Amino acid sequence: MTRLNKFLAESGVGSRRECDRLIADGAVKINGKVALLGAIVEDGDRVTVHDKRIGDKQKSVYLMLHKPKGYITTVKDDLGRKTVMELVHVNVRLYPVGRLDYDTEGLLILTNDGELANRLTHPRNEIDKTYIARISGILTPTERASLEKGVLVDGVKTAPARVKILRQDQHHTRCEVTIHEGRNHQVKKMFAAVGKEVEFLKRVAIGDLRLGGLKRGDTRYLTESEVEYLKKL
Ligand code: URA
Repeated sequence: MTRLNKFLAESGVGSRRECDRLIADGAVKINGKVALLGAIVEDGDRVTVHDKRIGDKQKSVYLMLHKPKGYITTVKDDLGRKTVMELVHVNVRLYPVGRLDYDTEGLLILTNDGELANRLTHPRNEIDKTYIARISGILTPTERASLEKGVLVDGVKTAPARVKILRQDQHHTRCEVTIHEGRNHQVKKMFAAVGKEVEFLKRVAIGDLRLGGLKRGDTRYLTESEVEYLKKL
C-alpha cells in the first residue's frame, strides 16, 4: 500500500510535486480509472501515466558522472548541444539530479529515483556542495569575508558559505567554495558580486560524497553505503 505520488516518484516519473500535478491533470489512472490526488496504490494495481504502464517496482539506479565542460545537464537540448545523457550507458532511463552549467565540470548524480532526486535538490534540505573555482585576479580578505557572510545575488542575499583559498598568484586565485543553496549560476554570481570572474568551475563534492579520482566523462555506480548516506541527508 503506497500513496500514488510516492509510487510514481519512486518509479522515476518525477518529483512528488510533479507527480501530484500529473494526477491533478487527470493523466494518471489506477486500473483504468482516473486517479485522484491522495489515491493509494495496492499491490497488483495497474498504474498508467498518459496510458503508459508505470512501475512494477523498477530497480533504482544511482550513478555518479564526472561531467566535462561542453555538455548540458538535461535529457534533451533544443539547440542540439551535447547532453550528459550521451555519457551514460545504462539500460534504464536516468535523470540528472540538479544542474551544472554547460562550462562547469565535476560531480553529477544521475538516478531514476525521483524521490531521492527531489530531496537532494530541495532548498529546505541545505545540502553542502563543494566546488573548486579559479578566479581572475587576487581575492582579497575583505572579498572573501563578504562571500562567506553572504552577498546580493539577483537582489537576495546568499546564505553563509565557506571559501578557502588554495593557491594565489598575481593573476589567479584558486579556492574551494562550499555552498548549500542551489540558485542558478550561484558560484559565478557570488564572485561577480565582489567583482571577480570565475574562469574555471568544478564540483568536487555533494555532502561527503566526493568525485575522487573518477576521470572526466566517466561514470560509476554509487555504492550501497553512498546511496544510504544520500538518503539520510
Ligand atoms: N554555480 C555556478 O555558477 N555554476 C554551476 O554550474 C554550479 C554552481
